[in-house]
Amino acid sequence: MSQMEGAALSTVTLLLLTGFCSGKDALPPGPANGSVGGSVMLNTVIGSVGPLLTVIWNFNDGSGPVIVVSVANGVPTEGPGYRNRVNVSSTTGSLELRQLTLGDTGTYAVNLIPEKGLPLTGEMILNVYEPISNVTVNASTTDLVELNDTVTLTCSASGSPTSYQWLLGSSDIITGGRVQLSDDGSILTISSVLRSDRGPLYCIANNGISNGTSQPILLNISYGPDNVEVALDSQSEFYMAGSSVNLSCSAQSSPPAQFQWALNGKMLDREGQELKLENVQRNQSGSYICWAHNSITLRYTASKPSMITVLERISGAEITGPSETLIAGISSANLSCQAAAGTSISREWLKGDQPLSPSNRITFSEDKSSVSISPVESSDNGEYQCRLSNPVSTDTASYTLTVNYGPQDVVINGKNTGSSTAEVNSRVTLKCSAVSLPPATFFWLVNGTKRAEKSTFTIEKVSRNDAGNYTCVASNDVTGLKVSAEHYLRVKETEPSHSVSLRATAGIVILALAGLGLIGGGP
Ligand SMILES: *[C@@H]1O[C@H](CO)[C@@H](O)[C@H](O)[C@H]1NC(C)=O
Ligand SMILES: *[C@@H]1O[C@H](CO)[C@@H](O)[C@H](O)[C@H]1NC(C)=O
Ligand SMILES: *[C@@H]1O[C@H](CO)[C@@H](O)[C@H](O)[C@H]1NC(C)=O
Ligand SMILES: *[C@@H]1O[C@H](CO)[C@@H](O)[C@H](O)[C@H]1NC(C)=O
Ligand SMILES: *[C@@H]1O[C@H](CO)[C@@H](O)[C@H](O)[C@H]1NC(C)=O
Ligand SMILES: *[C@@H]1O[C@H](CO)[C@@H](O)[C@H](O)[C@H]1NC(C)=O
Ligand SMILES: *[C@@H]1O[C@H](CO)[C@@H](O)[C@H](O)[C@H]1NC(C)=O
Ligand SMILES: *[C@@H]1O[C@H](CO)[C@@H](O)[C@H](O)[C@H]1NC(C)=O
Ligand SMILES: *[C@@H]1O[C@H](CO)[C@@H](O)[C@H](O)[C@H]1NC(C)=O
Ligand SMILES: *[C@@H]1O[C@H](CO)[C@@H](O)[C@H](O)[C@H]1NC(C)=O
Ligand SMILES: *[C@@H]1O[C@H](CO)[C@@H](O)[C@H](O)[C@H]1NC(C)=O
Ligand SMILES: *[C@@H]1O[C@H](CO)[C@@H](O)[C@H](O)[C@H]1NC(C)=O
Repeated sequence: MSQMEGAALSTVTLLLLTGFCSGKDALPPGPANGSVGGSVMLNTVIGSVGPLLTVIWNFNDGSGPVIVVSVANGVPTEGPGYRNRVNVSSTTGSLELRQLTLGDTGTYAVNLIPEKGLPLTGEMILNVYEPISNVTVNASTTDLVELNDTVTLTCSASGSPTSYQWLLGSSDIITGGRVQLSDDGSILTISSVLRSDRGPLYCIANNGISNGTSQPILLNISYGPDNVEVALDSQSEFYMAGSSVNLSCSAQSSPPAQFQWALNGKMLDREGQELKLENVQRNQSGSYICWAHNSITLRYTASKPSMITVLERISGAEITGPSETLIAGISSANLSCQAAAGTSISREWLKGDQPLSPSNRITFSEDKSSVSISPVESSDNGEYQCRLSNPVSTDTASYTLTVNYGPQDVVINGKNTGSSTAEVNSRVTLKCSAVSLPPATFFWLVNGTKRAEKSTFTIEKVSRNDAGNYTCVASNDVTGLKVSAEHYLRVKETEPSHSVSLRATAGIVILALAGLGLIGGGP
């Protein structure tokens, strides 16, 4: 051993004894990480302290410090096991360590002695890892029943992982409650599994230098049936007898549910997602329920009831009315509206095109199947309609009601009583009319003597003898009523010239006598 080497070794010995005690700021906080077979740089942080006299690196894996390399006056001396594996920077003292093995894991310490100034020391941990590979997840089982089962997922990997991470899809799994991790993170336990836990689940194993991701794990979680729903092919619950009705059941279920059907609480001998009813009859009305069953979860779930009402189409609607002759003010009428077929019928009555409203004379039966008019009046004449409807059909029946009435409003030339004056030789027409159903027949009384059987009484050339009481009698054979009107006709001579003034005077006398009833015919 040369003197110089001896001096270096004694320095090393000195530093071995004291070095780890002074300020440890020449190395950054660690740890540094390296992979087996790779290399690592342990860089010092010393700023500009000028040239270094001596650099010494020690290693301690817990069994006591050993020299890695010492550099004195620019000459490196490697410790046993470090030949050709180390390189020290002459300016910074940083250490490059190559061909790393797991045994290089431990604490590294450096002593730097600059030409000027105080010695510097530093300490740092180096971890050497195998690269992560072969990350696998072992599931306790992958066939699970929602809410019932618990799954344990164990992550393992080659290359001494130091931590684990779990992903559900692309997000970190959220732990707490049903989802728990072991202390080191390698075991994931999910209790009361939910369908949303299906996955894909991944385990990522990490160490200081690498990470690895497992194959995706998919959990086969059986669930349901949930949300069992029946769809009808129509918006309405009403169907016409003879039509077909299709019901379809759906459920959220894995594996897919099996379906059964019930009507009014009794299971039907029908299975399958679709229930097709053809030529439906009234006794198939009721509340339909679909039962869904999952053979793995062993759960049965029922849908809400769906109401179906089968109605017969209305046909043969008819109004029947009174058979006897109706007379205003005396008779009553009862109109009844019936259909030959149809169920759940509601009725509406109209007269003309207006709804028929009840009054003190017009009353409807409770179900509106009949209307009673008591007594009937002339205003009740007309066309009546009964509109029958149920949710699947409508029908209309018509009836013409005839109420006999009158005569009334008997008038002669527009007046019930009146008089007029006619000139001799003029033409006089007395026109009688009356309101009546059936139309009235007329006859005339002149001065109380029956004369003509027609509505209009005409005198082609009036003479003085035509003056008198003209009575029109209107009669209705059906009602048996007779009503009359009176008209008094006066006759005056044509205005005379001088030569006829005597005659005129005579006429006046005669008229005056006639007024006293002394001359002329009378009854
Ligand atoms: C040590 O580092 C120097 C400078 O970077 C380089 O020239 C030399 O080859 C290195 N020695 C080894 C053994 O790698
Ligand atoms: C991966 O792991 C399996 C079992 O855990 C093992 O048999 C296999 O050798 C491993 N492969 C590697 C490359 O480590
Ligand atoms: C998975 O774990 C079970 C026990 O939980 C064990 O029996 C089985 O061998 C493991 N499978 C693998 C591939 O490690
Ligand atoms: C080394 O790995 C650890 C995790 O194992 C990490 O915290 C540290 O920052 C890594 N060091 C460097 C220098 O990357
Ligand atoms: C895994 O390593 C890669 C680089 O190899 C890095 O980009 C990625 O962020 C790491 N992933 C995790 C989860 O640490
Ligand atoms: C999921 O689980 C059910 C019930 O155990 C099984 O019948 C089915 O085959 C499984 N599916 C898959 C893809 O494993
Ligand atoms: C019901 O289903 C049958 C057979 O699929 C079809 O022929 C029929 O038109 C459907 N009925 C209705 C009302 O959709
Ligand atoms: C409905 O009535 C028919 C006869 O009209 C009968 O054959 C059928 O069994 C009845 N259906 C039900 C569900 O009662
Ligand atoms: C799920 O749990 C319920 C109640 O704990 C039980 O009744 C049912 O049988 C279980 N289902 C299965 C498929 O084990
Ligand atoms: C009308 O006739 C029907 C059947 O004849 C009867 O049920 C109903 O009571 C009658 N209505 C009145 C108001 O008389
Ligand atoms: C005409 O009728 C009126 C009243 O009805 C009566 O007073 C008068 O005597 C009658 N005259 C004749 C000529 O009948
Ligand atoms: C009606 O009676 C009056 C008075 O009695 C008489 O003057 C007149 O001529 C009579 N008229 C007729 C048409 O008989």
